[in-house]
Amino acid sequence: METTIIDRGNLDFFTSFLLPDAALLLKEGKPIFALGLVENEEACGALAGGPRDGYFEISSFFVAPVKRGRGGGKLLLESLKSCMEGQSSLFGIRSDFTVTNGELSMYENFLRHSGFEFKKPRETIYSVNLSSLSKSPFFSKAAEGLKVHQFLEIPTSCVRELDRSARISEEAILPLPLDKAELDPELSVAVMDGSRIDGFMVFDRSFNGQLTLAYADSGAGGSAAFSSMLSASYQRALEKYPKDTEIIVNCVNAISTSLLERLAPEGRPLSRSALFLTSKEN
Ligand SMILES: CC(C)(COP(=O)(O)OP(=O)(O)OC[C@H]1O[C@@H](n2cnc3c(N)ncnc32)[C@H](O)[C@@H]1OP(=O)(O)O)[C@@H](O)C(=O)NCCC(=O)NCCS
Repeated sequence: METTIIDRGNLDFFTSFLLPDAALLLKEGKPIFALGLVENEEACGALAGGPRDGYFEISSFFVAPVKRGRGGGKLLLESLKSCMEGQSSLFGIRSDFTVTNGELSMYENFLRHSGFEFKKPRETIYSVNLSSLSKSPFFSKAAEGLKVHQFLEIPTSCVRELDRSARISEEAILPLPLDKAELDPELSVAVMDGSRIDGFMVFDRSFNGQLTLAYADSGAGGSAAFSSMLSASYQRALEKYPKDTEIIVNCVNAISTSLLERLAPEGRPLSRSALFLTSKEN
């Protein structure tokens, strides 16, 4: 096996081994570095990434299943390290990822085996079992008489307006506009203030198609509104999905992380941040 630098000229051979975002950046000629793995003139893997905060950050790493266990992954890593030699602005290699499937847990074990250390991740994504939520202390705090609406019954114009005002304040709720995103319109709920959405909780399928609590904002109703919305979503989820359904929760800041830890202490953190320091800093 050997490695080669991927550029626009040979990108087509390696596209199927790159995550879509990395392939797109390469196609557009953006500054992203990528190495391809080749055996007998056949492409069989790739890695891609670029400098960020003093590290080479891997954004994509993959070896074809039929070629695994034969040193291809190791060769990609070693070639990357060789390419980094002499780059005095880089302290090492970093890989931030979310373990949402078996392939990614394989990748985690491979990195551990390859000498990477695991640090506190920048993002905090959890997996919470639906049945474990039944013990949540939050449900007892639901406000009596506070009407919670499913997104299903809220006019699209109100949903668009919520999305528009979030984007104006540069806090987009989801990358896609809310009325175009793949929401679960029954679990996604809101508390209205007249025709305006005040508090809301949005569930989509953004993590590998898994049910994901992507964003929550209690609005002016505070913790009582939060508890009422959570309770409504939970009841609907129990009717709609099996009890052992895993829900991905994307905690966007320290407040939501501490909330989640109280809400579901049995939640499993899925975010990982792996670091390999090059000899320069040792
Ligand atoms: C992880 C992966 C890159 C490993 O590639 P590979 O070609 O099989 O790895 P190698 O054969 O080069 O193995 C190198 C070393 O790592 C070890 N290793 C490989 N996979 C391992 C695993 N899952 N657990 C523990 N060690 C592992 C090997 O035993 C070998 O050890 P040695 O050097 O002591 O002999 C490959 O399995 C893969 O592409 N998985 C999917 C990754 C993914 O999901 N990417 C998308 C997000 S970025």
